[in-house]
Amino acid sequence: MMALKKNNTIRVADYRADFPALSELMNGKRLAYMDTASSAQKPQIVMDTMNDILMHHYANIHRGLYAHSQNTTQMFEAVRAKVAGFIGAESENNIVFTRNSTEAINLVAQSWGRTNLKAGDEVILSAMEHHANIVPWQILSGQIGITLKIIPVLENGTLDLEFFEKLLSDNTKMVAFVHTSNSLGTVNPIKDIIAKTKAFNKDIMTLIDGTQAVVHGAVNVQDLACDFFCFTGHKIYGPNGVGVLYGRFDLLESMPPYQGGGDMIEAVSFSGTTYKPAPFKFEAGTPAIVEVIGLGAAIDYMQAIGIDAIAAHEAEMLEYLTQKLINIDGVTIYGTSPNKASIASFTADWAHSSDIAMILDQQGVAVRTGHHCCMPLMEAFGIEGTTRASIGLYTDKDDIDQMINALNKAKEMLA
Ligand SMILES: Cc1ncc(COP(=O)(O)O)c(C=O)c1O
Repeated sequence: MMALKKNNTIRVADYRADFPALSELMNGKRLAYMDTASSAQKPQIVMDTMNDILMHHYANIHRGLYAHSQNTTQMFEAVRAKVAGFIGAESENNIVFTRNSTEAINLVAQSWGRTNLKAGDEVILSAMEHHANIVPWQILSGQIGITLKIIPVLENGTLDLEFFEKLLSDNTKMVAFVHTSNSLGTVNPIKDIIAKTKAFNKDIMTLIDGTQAVVHGAVNVQDLACDFFCFTGHKIYGPNGVGVLYGRFDLLESMPPYQGGGDMIEAVSFSGTTYKPAPFKFEAGTPAIVEVIGLGAAIDYMQAIGIDAIAAHEAEMLEYLTQKLINIDGVTIYGTSPNKASIASFTADWAHSSDIAMILDQQGVAVRTGHHCCMPLMEAFGIEGTTRASIGLYTDKDDIDQMINALNKAKEMLA
């Protein structure tokens, strides 16, 4: 974890070696892992941290009076404070550990939504949401009759913000948006959208799906002034099985538990049960102990490199990739917002994206194809899906050149 280049981008060669999976072959070829937006590879330090707990001092948390349990509890709770610092939350009490972003959004829909919304109330979403920020609201709509209003996407993959302002009404109770689109890379002007929402009516709640945002740039939830924010561990070089919900503390306090069980209670009897305060009342059952601690190691890793330095490196790689892609005949890039994270989604008029991906796979190149859990967005663009190449802190020009060579080969074979 050393040298930065003069322009504050990272020297990727210093970090690639931290990711053992990147030196594995795929189909006998050097692996060009271009699917970080789907799930990031893990640095050795994350694996070592998790292994160390399992091998030397694993125990359940929050209940044992013996040293191992108390130490593990301390390590687990230290990550709550670390996460709070990572996203600029007021305190660790604003941080709920969930399984992933999906569970965080379901928690808000079912706990806050079911308690505070009624038939006819409106929730505004955008057309570029991941299914994780659509389906929980549709389930709630089926349960209590709320209405979903959708902000359209413009041709360049940005949100139609004039339309958004027209959607705000006396019935609007929640505005739930993706910060950075996993399909297009578009970075939405979240702070502005939140400010406009609150200027219209300060009681409208805002939920930001920050899943793809926290890995590509610094986030400060207090500066954004959002009510809820979520992200998932496996996209930020941490383990899967752990996610984070940030909530304004007064809201968390007022919300009922999402699930019931052990560890979230003060006292249980058959005549009634009392719950722990937030955030603990939302964490029923044994949590992902080792994974939460692994998430802490991933945050330390990213912060030691520097989030801004990672973002600068990724921007350089995205520019390199985009220039190469647009020089291939028949390729169309979806998502050309000037404010864009390191995701390139494209179609080629000479082949279906799954045929392209199969040939890329044979050449050692891992990309994602299909709708990327954004079927309504694909419908809005009138396409079935795209091929998506996504960049992480370890992506280098060799990965991109390998992908472009493989793409040219696919063109020779399929065009
Ligand atoms: C923008 C966005 N939101 C939500 C999710 C869901 O993440 P998870 O499956 O970890 O809950 C993803 C995953 O791809 C995503 O990219």
